[in-house]
Amino acid sequence: MKKVYLETFGCQMNVSDSERISTTLAKDGFEMTADETVADVVIFNTCSVREKAEHKLFTRVGHVRHSGRKPVVGIMGCVAQLEGETLFKKIQGVDFVLGTRAVGRVSAAVDASLSGNGKIVDVGERDDDYDWTVADTHRHSPYVAFVPIIEGCNKFCTYCIVPFSRGREISFSAKNIVSQVADLRLKGVREVHLIGQNVNSYKPESDEGLERLEGKSAFTKLLRATAATGIDRIKFTTSFPRDFRSDIVDAIEDHENLCNWVHLPVQSGSDRVLRGMKRGHTIDKYFKIIDRLRSSPRDISITTDIIVGFPGETEEDFRDTVELVEYCGYDMAYIFKYSPRPGTPAFEMEDDVSPAEKTIRFLELERVQRRVQNERLKRYLGKTVKVLVEGSSARNDSLTGHSTCHKVVNFVGNKEMLGEIVEVEVNEVKSNSLFGVLKQ
Ligand code: 5AD
Ligand code: SF4
Repeated sequence: MKKVYLETFGCQMNVSDSERISTTLAKDGFEMTADETVADVVIFNTCSVREKAEHKLFTRVGHVRHSGRKPVVGIMGCVAQLEGETLFKKIQGVDFVLGTRAVGRVSAAVDASLSGNGKIVDVGERDDDYDWTVADTHRHSPYVAFVPIIEGCNKFCTYCIVPFSRGREISFSAKNIVSQVADLRLKGVREVHLIGQNVNSYKPESDEGLERLEGKSAFTKLLRATAATGIDRIKFTTSFPRDFRSDIVDAIEDHENLCNWVHLPVQSGSDRVLRGMKRGHTIDKYFKIIDRLRSSPRDISITTDIIVGFPGETEEDFRDTVELVEYCGYDMAYIFKYSPRPGTPAFEMEDDVSPAEKTIRFLELERVQRRVQNERLKRYLGKTVKVLVEGSSARNDSLTGHSTCHKVVNFVGNKEMLGEIVEVEVNEVKSNSLFGVLKQ
């Protein structure tokens, strides 16, 4: 049996694709291995959102090639989709290149490469009968499942490569999503993540499965429909500010199993920069959403993405971003330095914030966020949070899992609790995790 090692970079959609790649390969007679050194085939499922992720890929392929063995090397995901056959020239030793929609044809590509059939490239469309299911054995967690509800992106924010690497938005059938969630629940999954580049832009072709549900948008109705399956916890990511309506918060307030966490990337605190980014929302509109989320009795945790050093960003624009971070009091913020991506509209703009200045802004914003975050997180001290126990340490009796507000929570307990939802009283707060004791 030929062994395949698969390494994943980037977002949850890539993690989700990788689960289906593994499921497909296993079904077709390959053995998935976590040990790169025994693999006959090494596949990288790639990310192109920033240059850094691409560089990491080049380094990793070089490492495999110089390891002395000669496994088949395949590149999948966003870099594969964007580069196609030019990747054979850019990286030595690549055998196949499969784009974001060719995931279902991975076994054929691996077979052909193993038989020495030359270089294979497939950046074509998905087959109509593409199988979206993930085998229980190939999910990233037995208790948590990612369910894609919308794929691709139509927003064309000027800095972003995703609309080019992932193509146009396609919303999946609501009826199908709801039955997947119901099925996962029966199989013992405790938490589902409804995933997509912009989940709240969800617009399926038909209303089937959403009839008679409350909500102004198909997304809110979908939230209510999945909540009605009775699964323990539902999280959703990523939300797009322009399409974020307050009825989403109403749904969270009505259904305990809709989790109290919203990831809402703002990107900048300056209206001028937001216009340059073509985000389609203003800071005023964004603050209104934040105010609605903050006023909720569900104590909703809010996380975001921010880019510093976008073309034309002045010191004043940056000050607006610092002010925004102070105002919003994020539970967590992913901060990035602007990275010009060839093919995007912003690539044509002058990348006029120097690398040194980008670093200065990045570090300052990180410092401010850390301070704000530490202050915000104190609200958990002495509180009891519900934790899905997802992992245990081999050395001692420490357990780890996520709260409904998507914090990592560590505590002492018995391994038999894996997969259970338990109550933990928080007694220590660190920037990226909470610590506490199990309530009996
Ligand atoms: N440069 C820096 N950050 C980027 N992101 C997307 N494109 C770029 C880019 N060209 C960030 C955005 C997005 C997150 C997934 O990655 O903040 O929300
Ligand atoms: Fe990129 Fe904007 Fe689409 Fe997000 S919404 S994937 S940032 S283009």
